[in-house]
Amino acid sequence: MSSTAGAAAQEERRRGAFSSRRVFILAAIGSAVGLGNIWRFPYVAYENGGGAFVVPYLVALLTAGIPFLLLDYAIGHRHRGSAPLSFARLRRGTEGLGWWQVAICFLIAVYYAAVLAWALSYTFFSLDQAWGADPEGFFFGEYLQAGDVAVTADVVPGVLVPLAVVWLAVLVVLALGVQRGIGAVSLVFIPVLVLAFAVLVVQALLLPGAGAGLDALFTPDWAALAEPAVWAAAFGQIFFSLSIGFGIMITYASYVGRREDMTGSGLVVGFSNSSFELLAGIGVFAALGFMAQASGVAVGEVARDGIALAFIAFPTIISEAPAGALIGVLFFGSLVIAGITSLISVIEVVISAVRDKLDTSRLTATLAVVVPSAVLSLVLFSTTSGIYVLDVVDHFVNQYGILVVALLSMLVVAWVLRALPRLGDHLNVHGRPRIGTGWRVLTSIVAPAGLAIVLVLAVRDDLAAPYEGYPTWLLLGFGWLLVLALPLVGFLLARLPWRAGTHLDGPPPGSDPGTPLDGAPVADAAGRDRSVTGHDEGGRR
Ligand code: ALA
Repeated sequence: MSSTAGAAAQEERRRGAFSSRRVFILAAIGSAVGLGNIWRFPYVAYENGGGAFVVPYLVALLTAGIPFLLLDYAIGHRHRGSAPLSFARLRRGTEGLGWWQVAICFLIAVYYAAVLAWALSYTFFSLDQAWGADPEGFFFGEYLQAGDVAVTADVVPGVLVPLAVVWLAVLVVLALGVQRGIGAVSLVFIPVLVLAFAVLVVQALLLPGAGAGLDALFTPDWAALAEPAVWAAAFGQIFFSLSIGFGIMITYASYVGRREDMTGSGLVVGFSNSSFELLAGIGVFAALGFMAQASGVAVGEVARDGIALAFIAFPTIISEAPAGALIGVLFFGSLVIAGITSLISVIEVVISAVRDKLDTSRLTATLAVVVPSAVLSLVLFSTTSGIYVLDVVDHFVNQYGILVVALLSMLVVAWVLRALPRLGDHLNVHGRPRIGTGWRVLTSIVAPAGLAIVLVLAVRDDLAAPYEGYPTWLLLGFGWLLVLALPLVGFLLARLPWRAGTHLDGPPPGSDPGTPLDGAPVADAAGRDRSVTGHDEGGRR
């Protein structure tokens, strides 16, 4: 083995790697399929044209979602690093974009875990329908003990304990590493999730009134297609749901063997995620149809989104449906599994960045990241003020955090670094179908334009009326200022020095599949000369 090959293998051992493409695909699906699919998609689709939403959704998926997913894959797979390291290897001055993504992930992890803790509690509550006759009063009152909109230090033990359990589980999985932790969990839990959710959907479809629910979801409102907000909703949904633009797919792709087909993998992940979304839409609306029929009202009156759908509407359904306990365990259990595999991917972005930057073992880095995140999460969300803070942070991080950094990274990679041709070439060496001009146009023009429109509309709405009518101090402190602080934190972290011996100039030797590890030129499928240093960033710094 040449010394370069030896160094590459040693670096792979240090960073960790997925044992096969199958494990990577399952882990990527695990990351993509999360709360966004189960509780966000059904209502977004219903609110934005019902059956007609399929048009903007597919357009967003095909013109922005999949192309950007492939861009993330290409960046991570070629540069073999966490988000900051991959950006630093693209061009040193862009490292801050990677840290900005890391900061977003840190923030998402802190509140995402709280929702999982609630879902974990509700999995058990489903057994005896602990919410009694008033699910709404139970959720806000008895369970969360939410008072006025204020930040308090009154701890709620019923949330503290499951939240600590969620963080402990995450700590153990991530300390085990890329394959033994993330890979193994994905191998077991993704098939379990699909099975559990399929049983849930069949059960929901058998409920009386299910047909009316599906009618409500799928009846197309073609006029909605003329509203820009409907298109904005489709683009926003795709980005959060596919886990793109905030470092996750860059990080996971950096753990994939150099010779694997990343394009085919991206298509599998993208379409699996959307299929799960469709399945969730069918299951949730079949159940809502039952609830509407049982209460003698229209489906539109019981349809809720997010927190209200999961923790108020579903408990009502569970109380009224035959075999309600089973529906409850399957629904909340699925939320926990789908959420935990996403949460793991979100925190891995931070751990991977810390490990690339500093000379630390996986255990030390995992403890250094998970313990402070868990403490912050427990402090913020196991108190009586948790739900308001969570709602505001979630809204602002999703609307502005993820979309702004996604848009900027796309523009920088496409227009400043002009890196799309070489990233596309990288995917094409082993990837099928081959990508070319179409992909470059979508990634550099169509997707950024779509994102820019989403952002303008979101800012317009948030300035026109305070989000959910919350007080200004809450929206400023946990919304606007927080999202403005993220890039600042990112660019400050980029100033810290890299651990000794980090290769920063371009992709590490041997990272373009099809090139030998000593960097000698070889011919690619099209017969062109390719070398690890050829047609690269070399000499431009
Ligand atoms: N992609 C993940 C979700 O949908 C983060 O929840």
